[in-house]
Amino acid sequence: MTFFWSSWITLISIGCWLFILGVLLFVLKYKPDVEEDGTTGHEYDGIREYDKPLPKWWLVIFFGSIVWGVAYWVFFPAMFPKHWEGIATVEVDGETVPWTSHNELNSELEQNNKVFTANFEQNILAKADASGATSTLATLADMQSTLRHSETAPADLKAQIDGKVAELAPYVEKLSENPNALKVGSRLFLQNCSVCHGSNAKGATGYPNLTDNDWLHGGKPENILLTLHNGWHIGVDYKKEPAKLPMPAWRENLGEDGVRAVAEYVLSISGNQNDYDLDQTLVTQGKTLFNQPTNCVLCHGPEGKGMVSTGAPNLTDNIWLFGGERETIRDTLRYGRAGVMPQWQTKLGNERIMLLAAYVYSLSDKTTPPVTQQTAAPAPTAEATAN
Ligand code: HEC
Ligand code: HEC
Repeated sequence: MTFFWSSWITLISIGCWLFILGVLLFVLKYKPDVEEDGTTGHEYDGIREYDKPLPKWWLVIFFGSIVWGVAYWVFFPAMFPKHWEGIATVEVDGETVPWTSHNELNSELEQNNKVFTANFEQNILAKADASGATSTLATLADMQSTLRHSETAPADLKAQIDGKVAELAPYVEKLSENPNALKVGSRLFLQNCSVCHGSNAKGATGYPNLTDNDWLHGGKPENILLTLHNGWHIGVDYKKEPAKLPMPAWRENLGEDGVRAVAEYVLSISGNQNDYDLDQTLVTQGKTLFNQPTNCVLCHGPEGKGMVSTGAPNLTDNIWLFGGERETIRDTLRYGRAGVMPQWQTKLGNERIMLLAAYVYSLSDKTTPPVTQQTAAPAPTAEATAN
């Protein structure tokens, strides 16, 4: 609220309060002339008016409300909210902070989380034989709290936190075999993740399938934990900074002809090459462009098999994030792509993330993909001739 409106409301409130107090004091002071029989001499339709004092109980409530009004102003940030914080406080994140509805909500969420955490430790971790995670979780929470409270965070603290998160991996693996943990995990998934990944986690265009063995960022429990904690490609406004697109746009750099050539080459190495009549001249041109050191190889690897370190997908299979049709691939190249996975660390907390990671890990296909990423596999053209 602006200063003008908060002053406006404050003045009206104080004005009403003074008016009511004034009326009451006036009525208490006012003494009408009374006749001998104790009436005021007024008579309406046979009803005669006495001048009796106001009942005590009524006065007590009335004055009580007036005093309560003042006490409320003192306790809560009711007057000039930005300037008077009130003396009421709540406890948030180990600190005593002035009362606001926002702080009160956070404080209640914290209480709620404590109950959840206790329950998680006793009924889920202990029963899944994963109690060892408790001390790691405690250290992790301390580190996260230090990071939140320090203005100039030690540069390596974030990396240490990621290291601690990864230490939870063996426990996530245990949870992924525990039906009770999976039940809670699946509920959390439906509430938080199904909007993008689908209620069966099989994904949609632009949102990866989590039940296969094809991973952008790695499918081991520690990879999934870190993906959930930190998210991917968040916090960049790609409209303002298109150069930061995770999959860059190439039309300016390569021109429409270049885009068509590389798209043809991508089709030729992909799993749906047989669906198209390929233009071999374009394929050859595209291959050269693809393999220039600052182009596609940089992220997708020498054979286009993808790299977990860059999150660039394997282009040699028939699993598509955005689509494998010729025109869709051209669009991907022309305009770039930016799939954003939100971070969940501050929204769900470490315990719920463990349950979600366990659930996702349990759904995933743990067999090794036929072509292992980042290894020098035989050139895809050899495969193509074999077909
Ligand atoms: C707003 C949409 C959205 C929501 C909500 C969302 N995700 Fe994602 N998620 C994405 C996108 C987009 C990607 C791909 C990121 C990329 O391109 O690098 C992704 C990637 C992932 C990955 C990595 C997949 C891989 O192949 O490496 C995992 C695991 C994942 N999400 C799990 C979850 C879970 C669990 C939740 C719920 C807590 C969730 N996501 C909620 C959009 C979402
Ligand atoms: C800076 C790293 C980087 C470079 C360079 C790069 N890519 Fe990508 N590419 C990515 C990432 C990351 C994604 C996934 C984007 C997402 O999830 O939003 C991607 C996605 C794609 C896709 C979509 C695949 C699908 O499953 O739908 C295609 C096709 C592709 N890239 C082709 C290329 C080609 C061809 C080039 C060279 C002209 C290239 N990329 C250069 C990082 C890169």
